[in-house]
Amino acid sequence: MDLSVKLLGLHFKNPLGPAAGPIVEGLENMQFFNNNLCGYNVAKTISVEGAIVPKPCIAGTTTTIYNCELWSELHSDEWINEILPTIHKEKKKPVIISAGYQEEDFRYLIPKLDPFADMFEISTHYVKENLAGIVKSIRENTDKPIFMKLSPHVDDFLGFVKTVLDAGATGIVAINSLGPGTAIDLKKRSVLLAEQIWMSGPSIKPIALHRIYNIRKAYPDIPIIGVGGIGKAEDVIEFILAGADLVQMLSSALIKGRRLYDKIIKDLPAALEKYGFSSIEEVRKIRKETVFKDVDTAVDNYPSFNEKCNMCMLCVRICPAGALTAEETIVVNKEKCIHCGLCESRCPQDAIYGVLRR
Ligand SMILES: Cc1cc2nc3c(=O)[nH]c(=O)nc-3n(C[C@H](O)[C@H](O)[C@H](O)COP(=O)(O)O)c2cc1C
Repeated sequence: MDLSVKLLGLHFKNPLGPAAGPIVEGLENMQFFNNNLCGYNVAKTISVEGAIVPKPCIAGTTTTIYNCELWSELHSDEWINEILPTIHKEKKKPVIISAGYQEEDFRYLIPKLDPFADMFEISTHYVKENLAGIVKSIRENTDKPIFMKLSPHVDDFLGFVKTVLDAGATGIVAINSLGPGTAIDLKKRSVLLAEQIWMSGPSIKPIALHRIYNIRKAYPDIPIIGVGGIGKAEDVIEFILAGADLVQMLSSALIKGRRLYDKIIKDLPAALEKYGFSSIEEVRKIRKETVFKDVDTAVDNYPSFNEKCNMCMLCVRICPAGALTAEETIVVNKEKCIHCGLCESRCPQDAIYGVLRR
């Protein structure tokens, strides 16, 4: 099964890389991703000065990571003089360097980072103004592809995309962590981590897919790197179908461990086959005629049941309209059915059809 992706003249063995975060901070971490199965490597966001991060700064549940990290805690000198030259020497795959945050940082950093980067990824998480000026200051200092990273708290995200592309950016990474939010540690009767935290992991996946889908719809041809909530091989395919060319993951590896990257890549061929794809490139090509085709949403279809129904009654219990009853088979009350689709989406046997979009 061909998992490779060709993008901007670069060859990626597969579409999955790490997302900027603690997992790619420093030499040992970057060496891990240089040597594992990921299709490319990413460096934690580098700024001129190392960040001073309040600790503790990361907490997790089974579906969400909370954090109040900033950018790399290492000084840029350490990246430029030690870490990146070593990775460059040992390099087995394309390297994306994440950098931040202001014009003066980029004028200093980009020329020094440029020899080690195949592409740049620019965090805008703490940027409130001068987006175009920031992109121009980077473009003046490199010919490499520049991906601007969208944070989900940006309301006018299509305006963001237009501004950065007009100023010279190449593509978009979507999305950074969601927030700000607050979590309460009930046992300790205090806020968890800090008064203001950011959320990531599987619980934010629909928000990431929303931004990716809508950016792809508005810009059919720009490169998009999708990130936010990926945790399994099927997620990678969903992100690419929604419009991503490459994908990244962080939080699921913080929840389950970093061996998850190799597991997802090993699981990808079977997942592609299960859904009828013969390669990742095919998923990229097919999205125009599939998820982006015009959909007829105005048809009121009733649920139908196939032979897989084992009368488990879940649909009867969950129907919000009380339209399903169990007789010899499940019977639909056509007066009551509101054509919502919940029964079909929840059926564990895949026994209901006809309501959801095809
Ligand atoms: C602990 C932590 C630190 C992060 N640090 C950075 C960072 O330095 N730069 C950046 O652009 N994004 C950073 N992110 C955001 C991630 O790169 C990613 O966009 C986000 O977590 C969504 O992906 P995920 O759900 O796979 O984690 C961080 C996220 C977490 C959880």
